[in-house]
Amino acid sequence: MKLERLNPDQFKQFCEFIYEKSGIRINDKKVTLLSNRIRHRLKAGDFEDFDTYYRFLTSQRGADELEGFLDAITTNETFFFRTAKHFDWLKNEFLTELIGQHRAGQREPSLRIWSAGCANGAEPYSIAVCLAENAHRLQGWSLKILGTDISEQMLAEAREGKYKERAVEAIDQKQRRRYFHHRTEENHWAIRPDLKELVEFKKHNLMDRISQGPFDCIFIRNVLIYFDRDSKRVVIENLVKALKAGGYLVVGPSEGIYDMLDPLQRLSPLIYQKPDEKIRSASSHGAEGRQR
Ligand SMILES: C[S@@+](CC[C@H](N)C(=O)[O-])C[C@H]1O[C@@H](n2cnc3c(N)ncnc32)[C@H](O)[C@@H]1O
Repeated sequence: MKLERLNPDQFKQFCEFIYEKSGIRINDKKVTLLSNRIRHRLKAGDFEDFDTYYRFLTSQRGADELEGFLDAITTNETFFFRTAKHFDWLKNEFLTELIGQHRAGQREPSLRIWSAGCANGAEPYSIAVCLAENAHRLQGWSLKILGTDISEQMLAEAREGKYKERAVEAIDQKQRRRYFHHRTEENHWAIRPDLKELVEFKKHNLMDRISQGPFDCIFIRNVLIYFDRDSKRVVIENLVKALKAGGYLVVGPSEGIYDMLDPLQRLSPLIYQKPDEKIRSASSHGAEGRQR
């Protein structure tokens, strides 16, 4: 049987279902793209047509299929040190400020970072590399990175921590040899076990509140591009609640949320801070802290 494109009713049905499960609003023009992606699932599961598949997916028996379905329709592309200036900021301004606050007796030696929508882990492991580069300044600190994603498949890859050459292209050879083991026969780069231990991976839908936290810094990058404004609002509210006072939100260049971050102070188009009156007044009274 030949599978054509989704008809308008089917397209609407799938779009509503995707929106309900992930917050992602599929653009009306993406009917061919969505049809192609769903068609892969039909073939994999030997389903007769889109309607049969939809009925299965939305039934109790289809709960396991939901994973594969969401994997198929979301975009998981990622690589190490994507948008390098975020990591430069993390290594320089951010860590210097936190270490300064600790030395001034204003904070515990503890750091919690959340990579929200972490895909295969390249983002949280890039953060782990930044912390490892500063190990001498962070001795005695409790360091934890949380990577979350809606896709189990992505999380499984993240936990494995093995990457093809293309994903590590932005890392110079010296750093690669320091933080990865190169498996020539399999032609991949495996992240060092002690860096792996810094990162915990967990399934989480950004439309829901997270139970962990609060975080000193949250990365939300290249995730919200396909969300509509109502869903973006829900996600932003959840992220802001999970941030510590004085914590930072690191935003990807294509999130489309710059005009929705009112509760935060804009430090640059890509970095926002949750106000913290305590630290601000301490800094203005001459304590060692970040200079703006
Ligand atoms: C393009 S990747 C971005 C990865 C990384 N943040 C980066 O910038 O390279 C987007 C990820 O967001 C995840 N995602 C999409 N909707 C989500 C949701 N509602 N909750 C959690 N993760 C979601 C996808 O599964 C995908 O792995």
